[in-house]
Amino acid sequence: MKNKIAIVTGANAGIGKATALKLAEMGAHVVMVCRNKKRGEKALLEIQEIANKKNLDLMLCDFASLKSINNFVKEFKNKYQRLDVLINNHGLVSLIKSKTEEKIETTFAVNHLGYFSLTLQLLDVLKASAPSRIVNVSSSANYRIRKLEIDDYNCDKRNYQFMKAYQESKLYNIMFSFLLAEKLQGTNITVNCLHPGFVKTQIGLNNFFLKLLTPLAKYKGVTPDEGARTSIYLATSPEMEGVTSKYYHKMKERDPNKLAFDKEAQKKLWNLSLKLTNLQFNI
Ligand SMILES: NC(=O)c1ccc[n+]([C@@H]2O[C@H](COP(=O)([O-])OP(=O)(O)OC[C@H]3O[C@@H](n4cnc5c(N)ncnc54)[C@H](OP(=O)(O)O)[C@@H]3O)[C@@H](O)[C@H]2O)c1
Repeated sequence: MKNKIAIVTGANAGIGKATALKLAEMGAHVVMVCRNKKRGEKALLEIQEIANKKNLDLMLCDFASLKSINNFVKEFKNKYQRLDVLINNHGLVSLIKSKTEEKIETTFAVNHLGYFSLTLQLLDVLKASAPSRIVNVSSSANYRIRKLEIDDYNCDKRNYQFMKAYQESKLYNIMFSFLLAEKLQGTNITVNCLHPGFVKTQIGLNNFFLKLLTPLAKYKGVTPDEGARTSIYLATSPEMEGVTSKYYHKMKERDPNKLAFDKEAQKKLWNLSLKLTNLQFNI
């Protein structure tokens, strides 16, 4: 990974932090994208100590704000001329229904539009640096969805159920990955997605009910280092050269929810996301 530049989002905690550390140990220059300066700096220092490397950078972005994503992209492009690996890893579970400043339901905005907007705006740099790789961290939560309700992305016509919102967003990560991979054919940019496993992290533990699950997570979950393995594999392994449009778990290709292959639904999600982000797909 020497001379390679990698972005890891949500890099101050859990799987993202373990991913950033491993990439830095492998010699990559890692741009850690975090929403909170203090938490980001703490993680940066910890990683620098362990990896004993100076090839790390911290940049700020709140994926709940499309404006913040646009600003981050501008800053990144001012600072860097290339990008070899983009790992969309940040994510949240939001117990209470809320909307972002752009009036979009928070789980959908952060977990799906955050990946979508960042990726589309970085495609020019990824293309100029090809062969390059996009890795989207999804979840086995995708299997839980039986019916797609893309039109009601804001959950205005149904009761908000926090786990359902999370599960939908994680299915959207896969649908986005598959359609993007198709659109990027011939560019030498690959797009793959993954389930990291049940990992002992802080996700969802910012609320009382999910805190009740902590003992279960402590008992059953794997470490963030183990949880980062498939992300690292997809981002760096020579075996993954040229492999695109796949869903992985434990470094093996798996079948996701069959809804992920619904072409019409993929296009619907894509067009909605373009409209909400006010972006165009140019490659
Ligand atoms: N843990 C599991 O068992 C598991 C299972 C399946 C899939 N996953 C997926 O793995 C990925 C990483 O999750 P994790 O388990 O490592 O969780 P985590 O420890 O909670 O880490 C999540 C990261 O995302 C960041 N983040 C959340 N909202 C953000 C926002 N609006 N803007 C910028 N960054 C934001 C967090 O920043 P703050 O620290 O500032 O909140 C944190 O750095 C997620 O995509 C999740 O869906 C996890």
